[in-house]
Amino acid sequence: MAGPTGIALWFTRLHMRQSEFMANPYPLYRQWLQEHPRWEVDDGEWLLFRYEDVRRVLMEPAFAKGEPWTETPPPDFAHLPELSPSMLMQNPPDHTRLRGLVSQAFQPRHLERLRPFVTDLARDLADRIRHDGGGDLVSQFAFPLPALVIAELLGVPREDHGQFRQWSQHIARLLDPSQTPEAREKAVRARWELLDYFHQLIQAKRAHPGDDLLTELIQVESAGDRLSPGELLSMALLLLVAGHETTTNLLSMGTLALIEHPDLERPRDHWHLAVEELLRYTSPVQLDARKTVAPVAFDGIAVPEGSWLTVVLGAANRDPAVFSDPDRLDLARQPNPHMAFGRGIHYCLGASLARMEAEIAFPILWETSWSLEGTPLWNENIVLRGLTALPVAPQ
Ligand code: HEM
Repeated sequence: MAGPTGIALWFTRLHMRQSEFMANPYPLYRQWLQEHPRWEVDDGEWLLFRYEDVRRVLMEPAFAKGEPWTETPPPDFAHLPELSPSMLMQNPPDHTRLRGLVSQAFQPRHLERLRPFVTDLARDLADRIRHDGGGDLVSQFAFPLPALVIAELLGVPREDHGQFRQWSQHIARLLDPSQTPEAREKAVRARWELLDYFHQLIQAKRAHPGDDLLTELIQVESAGDRLSPGELLSMALLLLVAGHETTTNLLSMGTLALIEHPDLERPRDHWHLAVEELLRYTSPVQLDARKTVAPVAFDGIAVPEGSWLTVVLGAANRDPAVFSDPDRLDLARQPNPHMAFGRGIHYCLGASLARMEAEIAFPILWETSWSLEGTPLWNENIVLRGLTALPVAPQ
């Protein structure tokens, strides 16, 4: 989900305060979609807003990921293998091979195994906020839930869940560009500590296999091919990085959207359609990026090979050409072909897990209604837009 380097400079170029944009990017998206839906913001750097253009970029092989990179561990962690590029960074055939191996391990039975864990955890976290008469929905619910679900999915022993949660907390700061250099340094160290922990866990699971995804990833084999130690480590980290903050942001932004629409009737049992609409409406991954590996054209507008295209999923998910009354939250919207999980070969591997978590968490949370008890705080991450605090109280 990394973008071209220049994209963080948007706001400087546009002379706008980032905080204003983070709180509500949608009016500007609409304006840009109408005024210049294919916008060359800098030499060879494009922004695309239309649903059809975004879909095309994600689906066609002329648009690819940039150069993948490996990472050598720092001296303190020299015993770890070199970290292979994750599949999120890779193009075919390397992507096809990794995704093929990993998909074999990522089976529906792992999701079913997690269902009671997610239910108990969601209930416990929600009850604690209710019992205290209110709290911060981000730090007390939306953040810990997906972190601990990934820990459980991978087979992290329960006694290590607290430590895993702390590492996740530090690592999440790596995604926030507004961090101080000291916090960044701490976050980088936490990331290597977590990788070291995964490394030891992988060795333990090789000796004593468990009924978990990490064991499955170690054992998976196709035509004599297996994941190398560096690929295993990188995959475990990718699952945490790709699956944590995104789900946290869906849960917190989704809750805020529901609080802001008190007159909307909540679904009674079937939250399936409501979750799809919250995914569309909040678009936790706002931007994605690809590089052209051949010259292409959009309705006669030529885009040369080697250009960076940033596709704005948040804008595509509100394109009036596809969604009627797109800024309206319609919890029963059908059809709802949103692209919150992307499209094409990189389509979110964890989409079923994220849906399951949301379809369990929202109904448990919304057994009571909630009111806002202060101002929600937005992060400054234009790729993974989300809240850093959401003060709420049960009504
Ligand atoms: C609401 C939650 C989530 C959202 C909105 C989301 C969104 C996305 C998007 C848009 C992509 C495509 C990126 C691209 O094309 O460059 C993606 C890929 C991916 N996601 Fe998710 N994701 C979510 C949850 C999860 C979870 C829970 C996991 C796993 C635990 C996960 C694992 C992955 C992986 C491994 C990829 C890379 C797939 C590939 O490169 O083939 N995601 N996700």
